[in-house]
Amino acid sequence: MASEIKDINLWESGARKIDWVRRNCPLLSMLHDEFSKTKPFAGKKVALSVHLEAKTAYLCLTLAAGGAEMYVTGSNPLSTQDDVAAALAHEGLEVHAWYGTTPEEYEKHIRAVLSVGPDIIIDDGGDLVHMMHTEFRDLAAKVIGGCEETTTGILRLEAMDRANELLFPMVRVNNAQMKHFFDNRYGTGQSVWDGINRTTNLIVAGKIVVVAGYGWCGKGTAMRAKGLGARVIVTEINPVKAIEAVMDGFDVMPMKEAAKLGDFFVTVTGCDKVIDAEDFAVMKDGAILTNAGHFDCEIDMAGLREIAVEKAEMRNNIMGYKLPTGQWIYVLGEGRLVNLACGDGHPAEIMDMSFAIQALSAKYLVEHASELKEKLIDVPEEVDIDVAKKKLAFMGKEIDVLTPEQEKYLNSANV
Ligand SMILES: NC(=O)c1ccc[n+]([C@@H]2O[C@H](COP(=O)([O-])OP(=O)(O)OC[C@H]3O[C@@H](n4cnc5c(N)ncnc54)[C@H](O)[C@@H]3O)[C@@H](O)[C@H]2O)c1
Repeated sequence: MASEIKDINLWESGARKIDWVRRNCPLLSMLHDEFSKTKPFAGKKVALSVHLEAKTAYLCLTLAAGGAEMYVTGSNPLSTQDDVAAALAHEGLEVHAWYGTTPEEYEKHIRAVLSVGPDIIIDDGGDLVHMMHTEFRDLAAKVIGGCEETTTGILRLEAMDRANELLFPMVRVNNAQMKHFFDNRYGTGQSVWDGINRTTNLIVAGKIVVVAGYGWCGKGTAMRAKGLGARVIVTEINPVKAIEAVMDGFDVMPMKEAAKLGDFFVTVTGCDKVIDAEDFAVMKDGAILTNAGHFDCEIDMAGLREIAVEKAEMRNNIMGYKLPTGQWIYVLGEGRLVNLACGDGHPAEIMDMSFAIQALSAKYLVEHASELKEKLIDVPEEVDIDVAKKKLAFMGKEIDVLTPEQEKYLNSANV
């Protein structure tokens, strides 16, 4: 099938973005060179659904350099960059994606990359795997396995795994240390504020920021808000995480209370309707609402549209809603992941680590195809440690090595 993209003539701008990523992703570049020689994916079809911006494009080119036939789509209607999609198509990869797809177009693109009968699946949020287990069940036997990039996708897979419904092995890429320690925390932490700042052009210092969810992403988002000079309030449902937030110096309270105080809101829970109609009703005039969780259900957008008496586009990616009580509240990027819908996603150096784990996990699936069961599997520890060692070397940092005596001491029962 031919690629379905916005406009192939946009490719040069996309190629420049990918080149910038290449210059800042030494791990992926090293794998690109290695795979070009060893061709671990020769003859394999890879279906990929990941936010289609320049770092993802470089992962696609790295897998293609290793011999993979790539079939690429995005993982969110508002995170595809059309010039990047054009650059990949210009390189000869099959791409089905454009910015601003309708729900029907989004599904059609997923269908297009699965209909080729992939050997490997690279998923971000679980949409490829879901459709493979429903509409494309007859093609599932051919799939060696897949990799899942994000927390929400892992939750969906864990439910399938518990019910013994998985038809092929899936690697929990998100759960690798070299992924969520850095991507979810420092990547989301920085890129959420990049997205908010460039979209609103408003000051954060001196304001009240409400972060819903103090998991890996929430910790990063709260930490960077504090660094920008905000007073930060955290909302949680987990008592341990709530105490962690308190000890990290943040105020903790239910959303019903925080809703009255916040100037900026960032939901990053992976949960549903974290901010609902009751919360909108008590918000301050000018409150800015954003979501950084995978799906656009964390802010109850349907509820907001229902109660709003007026709606107006304020700036690119800022929609204003006037409440019956008179105050205006503003939603960025239609409540979709603010760092991708209103920005370029995580910094390149972060995705260098996440996508090195992706590429090596895909290679692991090919090399161990005959031994793996139809279950969720973890990224092998040696892959995690190897990526960490190489990243450290690229950062120009050295660390200590245990002496034989120290090793003996640590492994002895007489410590
Ligand atoms: N924007 C991005 O670039 C990006 C990057 C990585 C992950 N994600 C997504 O962000 C979400 C969170 O990921 P994570 O890795 O931080 O997950 P996590 O499991 O580490 O943290 C989620 C936290 O939210 C809390 N929570 C759940 N429901 C809540 C509710 N109703 N109110 C308040 N708190 C609640 C949980 O107790 C938990 O502490 C997921 O959807 C994930 O897929 C987004």
